[in-house]
Amino acid sequence: MLNMDLFKHPGLLLLIIASVSTLTMSPTMASTMEEDLSLRSALEQRIATITKDPALHKKMIREGRDRTVLCNTCHGKDGMAIRPLTPNLAGQNPVYIVDQFQRFGDGRRNEYLMSSLAKTFSEEDKIKIALYYSEMKMLSSGGGNAALLQEGEKLFKEACISCHGQDGRGQEGYARLAGQRYDYVVKMLKEFRDRTGKRINVWMTSVAIRLSDKDIEAVSTYLANLK
Ligand code: HEC
Ligand code: HEC
Repeated sequence: MLNMDLFKHPGLLLLIIASVSTLTMSPTMASTMEEDLSLRSALEQRIATITKDPALHKKMIREGRDRTVLCNTCHGKDGMAIRPLTPNLAGQNPVYIVDQFQRFGDGRRNEYLMSSLAKTFSEEDKIKIALYYSEMKMLSSGGGNAALLQEGEKLFKEACISCHGQDGRGQEGYARLAGQRYDYVVKMLKEFRDRTGKRINVWMTSVAIRLSDKDIEAVSTYLANLK
């Protein structure tokens, strides 16, 4: 079992990131990490301001809904995905959703349809859509390998909660993972680990390179069955 206590120590984490960076990132990509974090905190503040104004919040959600007719065919009307390898969006952290649209748009994340769609959204659209989905309730999707449930829980608590939160519900700009589809989580962890170039994120790669296929199955089972 791997020991990820070091993720609680920023100094050690930076050391790992530096070593992964030399493997996976060009200097220009590495230098965008700080910008990344400051963009994310600006976004957090913007979203916090909106949610403090109930009338504005409601209006934004309504306008978000109007933009999601097409999205429902894959992500489901209630934000629970109805296609394989497609993420649930219900209850997802709005800061994370907007951040992902930006990544699809600028090539740090790549998937044919989503990358094309993201380029058509304005900044305001992204926020409205994110607020719309974040209000829905994510249910647990279930599935995976029940025999690995306990191992998955142990791994999650050791290696993931410092960023994704104690209960996997996401925090600050980090993704909610609780309830997320098993097949999708497995696929994403392998993309980070194997550096396929579809998702470029040095934080997640530094975590995922320590996971075996079995670790990935275990933690994905645990997450898919969480509420
Ligand atoms: C044809 C199916 C399809 C349609 C239509 C579609 N998506 Fe997606 N979406 C996907 C798939 C598949 C992924 C996973 C991409 C990957 O593998 O990285 C995804 C990923 C996402 C993500 C990232 C979520 C996460 O957990 O990281 C967001 C946000 C998203 N879609 C929003 C939307 C919105 C908003 C629309 C409509 C404007 C939309 N999608 C339309 C299939 C679709
Ligand atoms: C140091 C912080 C950190 C730790 C620890 C961490 N993550 Fe992440 N995780 C992130 C970041 C940042 C992203 C967003 C990556 C991106 O933008 O592409 C992410 C994204 C993800 C995603 C994609 C979510 C989605 O909806 O597409 C999954 C799945 C994931 N993490 C699983 C895990 C698991 C499982 C662990 C523990 C084994 C873990 N993470 C530990 C920072 C972390």
